[in-house]
Amino acid sequence: MPRVFEGTLLFRSKPGRTLAMVTAYTSWQAHLAEEAGVDAILVGDSLGMVELGYETTLPVTLGEVLHHAKAVSRGAKALPVIVDLPFMSYQTSVPAALKAAGRVLKETRAVAVKLEGGKEVAPTVRAMVEAGIPVMGHIGLMPQHVRAMAGYRIQGKTEESASRLLEDALSLEAAGAFSVVIEGTRSEVARSLTTRLSIPTIGIGAGPYTDGQILVFHDVVGISPSPPKLARAFGKTSQEARNALTAFASAVREGSFPGPDETYG
Ligand code: KIV
Repeated sequence: MPRVFEGTLLFRSKPGRTLAMVTAYTSWQAHLAEEAGVDAILVGDSLGMVELGYETTLPVTLGEVLHHAKAVSRGAKALPVIVDLPFMSYQTSVPAALKAAGRVLKETRAVAVKLEGGKEVAPTVRAMVEAGIPVMGHIGLMPQHVRAMAGYRIQGKTEESASRLLEDALSLEAAGAFSVVIEGTRSEVARSLTTRLSIPTIGIGAGPYTDGQILVFHDVVGISPSPPKLARAFGKTSQEARNALTAFASAVREGSFPGPDETYG
């Protein structure tokens, strides 16, 4: 049974049902997401992998995130937009983090920033919230920790790791985060975190018991060449696009494009 979160940033207009969020990186993706009626958009630092061709999210810069967040802000007129702070834009010091998050709020239509980490980032979250910057946390599998975790590993497998996750989630809530993303975590652990927290949890690869779900745009529409197990393709966009491009190239080569209808005068 979905929990009711009246008056919170994400659930302000549609309380009492599971929230559907998607990432977006360009204005057309944001526009489609808005037309489709999703509840909020995240300009994720997955940008680096799905749009910019990096192998991990680590090389993504604040400049790149801002560039894409501005495009998303132009594409979706009313949806809440949340923007990921990239690796090393918030970890070095609280003033650096405030500066990075401040730029996101000043230069885009973002209503909030998201950052990865548990109790170690709680002081940063608190400082941002005190400065008037809403913050979404992100715990469990944290792609910015790919080197430290030696790969992308499911979290919460042992009792010790599950209780660390709880401690992290509670620290973020106490620091003022308005919501927390739980990624790549055993579903029972995500369920128990959701029960213990009074802020909404948004899951990705964390099972069905969170207050909302988020997926990467490319995985949802079927553009990703090798989507992760946690994703489901609800469309066949790559196949459609490839067919259209092949048909265009053939039509040009055989001389059937442009035809009379596509020619002026
Ligand atoms: O960067 C991203 O896309 C994310 C989501 C998948 C939660 O952090």
